[in-house]
This record gives sequence, C-alpha cells and structure tokens, in this order.
Amino acid sequence: MTERFHDIALTVNGEAVRERVDARKTLVDFLREDLSLTGSHVGCEHGVCGACTVRLDGVIVRGCLTLAVQCDGATVETIEGVSDLGTIADLQAAFQARNALQCGFCTPGMLLTAAELLDAGAMPSREKIREHLSGNYCRCTGYHAIVDAVEAVARARAKHP
Ligand code: FES
Ligand code: FES
Repeated sequence: MTERFHDIALTVNGEAVRERVDARKTLVDFLREDLSLTGSHVGCEHGVCGACTVRLDGVIVRGCLTLAVQCDGATVETIEGVSDLGTIADLQAAFQARNALQCGFCTPGMLLTAAELLDAGAMPSREKIREHLSGNYCRCTGYHAIVDAVEAVARARAKHP
C-alpha cells in the first residue's frame, strides 16, 4: 500500500523546514495550518481565484493545486517572506495609496502576481496588466484601482530602475 504520510524538507521564506505531511495536503493548507503562514488565502480551492498564490522555486503557483509533498527540496516564498524582504514595498504602498484593496482577501495573491509582471522589466500596457492579473479575482475593488497601482509602480521603476 502507498504511504499516506511523507517527510519533506524545503525552504520557506529563507528558513529550512522539515515536516511530516499527509500526501493529500495542499501547499496552501500546509503553509497556513502547519507553518501558521496565513497570508496566503484559501478561496475557491480549485485553481480559479488566485487567492492562494505563492512562489515555488521563483515562479508563482496556485497553492491549492500544489501538494505539499511535491515541494520536497523546493524553495517557497509567501507574501510574509516577500514583505519582510521589502522587495515589493513600493507595490504595497501603491495599493494602499490608490485604494487597490478593500477587504484584502485577494491582495497577497494580487501583489505576488503583479510583482511577477513588474520583475519582467518592461513597461507593461494597462491591457497587459489586466491580462496578467486576470487569474486573480477581486470581489471588492472593480480592478481599476489595482491596475492604476501596478501601472504607477511600473512607471516609477522605469524612471528609477
Ligand atoms: S484557492 Fe487556489 S485558486 Fe482559488
Ligand atoms: S480587496 Fe476584497 S477581494 Fe479584493
């Protein structure tokens, strides 16, 4: 019979983590329940809303569609770790200044997804920003303010790279 529990070792927000996990446990549940990293949210639980977005080996993934056991040996970054590093402080400030968040449920996923686009370097059009964020749902803001915030940061970074 296949083993139900597995020992995994990974790096989460720069710290080495070793845990025994249920084979069926998702990455986002592992982060929230086992590591108390509750900044990644659980919305639809089937890959639609983007609330569970985290970075896995530098690439954003759906934490609800990724199993914790798949992350053995990997590097995971959550909104907590990225915030602590200060690498998206300008994006966070722009979201706040432009009312690009209300309840905040979508915000960690939005920020990580927007950061991925901005890290690509080029000045994105509003259409490109909308397209890149199209996998992240927000039930509060109507999206305009979010696009405004991302565009403002893209312009600022283009001026002062
Ligand atoms: S909770 Fe993962 S995409 Fe919605
Ligand atoms: S701010 Fe409430 S879901 Fe986006």
